[in-house]
Amino acid sequence: MTVAAFARWTPRVEEALEALLPPASAEPARLHEAMRYSVLAGGKRIRPVFAMAAYEACGGADAEGVLPAAAALELFHTYSLIHDDLPAMDDDALRRGKPTSHVVYGEALAILAGDALQTLGAEALVTYPKGSTFTARRTKAARALFRALGSRGMAGGQVLDLAAEGAAGGVDAAALTRIHRLKTGVFLEACLEAGALWAGARAPVVRALKRYGAAIGLAFQVVDDVLDMTASAETLGKTPGKDATHEKATFPKLLGLDGSRRQADRLLSEALRALSPLGDASRDLRELARFVVDRDR
Ligand code: IPE
Ligand code: IPE
Ligand code: MG
Ligand code: MG
Ligand code: MG
Repeated sequence: MTVAAFARWTPRVEEALEALLPPASAEPARLHEAMRYSVLAGGKRIRPVFAMAAYEACGGADAEGVLPAAAALELFHTYSLIHDDLPAMDDDALRRGKPTSHVVYGEALAILAGDALQTLGAEALVTYPKGSTFTARRTKAARALFRALGSRGMAGGQVLDLAAEGAAGGVDAAALTRIHRLKTGVFLEACLEAGALWAGARAPVVRALKRYGAAIGLAFQVVDDVLDMTASAETLGKTPGKDATHEKATFPKLLGLDGSRRQADRLLSEALRALSPLGDASRDLRELARFVVDRDR
């Protein structure tokens, strides 16, 4: 499945990441090595790609200027993966096809690499896109992203995810939806919102992008749950079957595999409907939404 937005943006995101990260030779070298190890291990880069696609769909024309800010989203995401894999959380040994950070560098360095990636991302968000046109837009986008990463977003969702492990009788649809929206959906939604804000989009367009992001963000985690049960370690680059081992609250557990796939399809329709105000400009976003639901990794 070729997706135009990945072909267009992924190589440029990789370059921007390389430029944002301190060199491995800079002291403390072991910390910088650990940061680079996890960020440069690959990954789909879907958050920066979503942001760039939203930026262009909203008429943004300074892709070069926005790219470092979009790449910063991957720094936040990678921090969340390093911490998600820690023994105190999901205790995972494989990520992006390689041993996890704490397996290679030890827990202390993995925690600190995550911390430093988060603040490096924040530094990038208050710096890029550069120039006075972007001053107010930068602040709005940074505020939306910081909020999405915090206790009312990803960090809060991770707490609920851990609290729901092994829940007697499982959790109901409303509680599970809330966990998945918070731990994954809210940040994805903010990546789309940020793209629209950097473009200076008008409020109704920003709202459309947020509706799209909310639907596709939830779909993203529903599909992540499905792939945990159906994909191989080689394709996935992480250990399959971990959700069952940890007695996680997941959509397949609640709705079964087919029910989860139908749920993802419903969310896809919702996401596509949200894009109607953008017309033809939303082609890449439509294709990305289909990718989220049809992906195999
Ligand atoms: C995995 O994210 C963690 C979730 C929020 C579900 P991705 O599936 O985007 O992981 P990478 O970046 O491609 O490795
Ligand atoms: C991760 O959810 C959500 C994050 C905020 C990182 P999972 O725990 O299901 O992600 P994977 O399957 O380990 O990538
Ligand atoms: Mg987790
Ligand atoms: Mg995990
Ligand atoms: Mg998962």
